[in-house]
Amino acid sequence: MINIAVLGYGTVGSGVVEVINTNHKSINKRAGEDIHIKYVLDLRDFPGDPVQEILVHDYEVIVNDPEVNIVVEVMGGIEPAYTFVKRALLAGKSVCTSNKALVASHGPELMELARERDINFLFEASCGGGIPIIRALNSSLTADEIDEITGILNGTTNYMLYKMSTEGCEFDAILKEAQAMGYAEADPSADVEGYDACRKIAILSSLAYGRFLNYEDIYTEGITKITPQDMEYAKELGMTIKLLGTSRKVGEGTFYAMVAPFLLSQKSPLYSVNDVFNGIFVHGNVLGDAMFYGSGAGKLPTASAVVADVVDEAKHLHRNIMTNWSSRPLHLIETDEVEGRFFVRVSAATVEEVQKIFGKVQIINLKSLPGEFAFITENMKQGEYKEKVQSLGSRVLTMIRVKD
Ligand code: HSE
Repeated sequence: MINIAVLGYGTVGSGVVEVINTNHKSINKRAGEDIHIKYVLDLRDFPGDPVQEILVHDYEVIVNDPEVNIVVEVMGGIEPAYTFVKRALLAGKSVCTSNKALVASHGPELMELARERDINFLFEASCGGGIPIIRALNSSLTADEIDEITGILNGTTNYMLYKMSTEGCEFDAILKEAQAMGYAEADPSADVEGYDACRKIAILSSLAYGRFLNYEDIYTEGITKITPQDMEYAKELGMTIKLLGTSRKVGEGTFYAMVAPFLLSQKSPLYSVNDVFNGIFVHGNVLGDAMFYGSGAGKLPTASAVVADVVDEAKHLHRNIMTNWSSRPLHLIETDEVEGRFFVRVSAATVEEVQKIFGKVQIINLKSLPGEFAFITENMKQGEYKEKVQSLGSRVLTMIRVKD
C-alpha cells in the first residue's frame, strides 16, 4: 500500500480526493499498488464530508508519519507550501504539486533535494491543467533540440478573451464567471496580468531547454488593456487575440521569452484554442511541429494531472525520474532585440504620417470606429518600433504584437 497525504482541500485538493475515489480500481492497477489517502490537511473543518475522518490541522502529523510515502501539495502560494514541501522531501517523501508559483520560484532547490534522495518532485499539473506536457518534455521529446514553445497557458484569460470576442461580454462580468467555475487563481490578477502564464512558460522553457529560466526575467503583459474595439479589428483582419507565453531559441545559447496578448492568424495552430482550453505548440529540430491541447484549468482536469504524478511516484518510489531539469541559468536577450510585427491603433493621425515613420504598413479602417485607424508594421526589432512610435505620442491607442 502507498499512503498519501493531500495538503489543502480547496478546488484542486477536493478534486484529487474525488479522482482517487472515482477511479480507484484503475489507478491502483496502473500504480501496481493500493493508493490510500491517509490524511488531508486543511485549517478548516468540513462537517458532513467524509473527508472529516482523515482531516488533520497539524502538518507535523504528516511529516512525522513514516507510513506516508507521497505528499500532494495543492494549497497554492509560496508559504507555507514551500516549507511543507521541503520538509517532506528532507523526510524522504516524494512530492507532487500543482503549484506553479512554487515550482517557478523554488523548483531547482526542490528538484535537487529529490534527486539527492532518489525520490521525486513532480509538477505535471503546474502547466496546462490536464494536458500532459511536462511528462512529454521530460520523457517523450528527448530526441529533440527544442527551439520554440508557445502556448495558451492560462484558461481563465482564454475563456475571457473568447467570451469577449464571441459575445462581446464585459471584462469584469466574465472574470466573475471564470472565478465561479473554479478556473481563476485565488487572486485573479495573477491570471489577467499574465503572472500565471509567466510562471508556466518559465517552467516549460526550463524543461525544454535544460536550463533554469527565472520567471522574474520574463517580460510580462496581461489582457487588462484589451478592449472590444481591439476585438473588432481582429475580426476584420480574420485574426484573433490570445494571451501567449512564448520562448524561442534565437542563436547558440541565446533565447527570448515573453508573455503578452498577440494577434494570431487562422494559420496558427493556436487560433482555434478557445474557451478554457489550453494549447501548447512545441517545435523540435527533428520532430518539427507538435501541439498539445486540452482542458487548461478547473478542478478535475488539474486533479487528473496531479493523480497521474501520484501514480508515477508510486511506480518509482526509489528512483528519480525528472531527468531533463538543470539548475544552470538560462539567459534571455533584451525584449528590445526581439523581432516581430506590431498592430497599432491611432487617432488624430494620417496614413501619410504613419507611412513616413514606418514605411510600408497594412492599413485597417473600421466603419464603426471613425476618427481612428489601425496599421500593422513590417517586421522590425521591438527597440526600433519603440523609437519610431514615439513621434505619434498619445495618439497611439493600442499596440498588440502580431504572431506570424
Ligand atoms: N488560473 C489558472 C488558469 C488555473 O486559469 O489557467 C490553472 O493553472
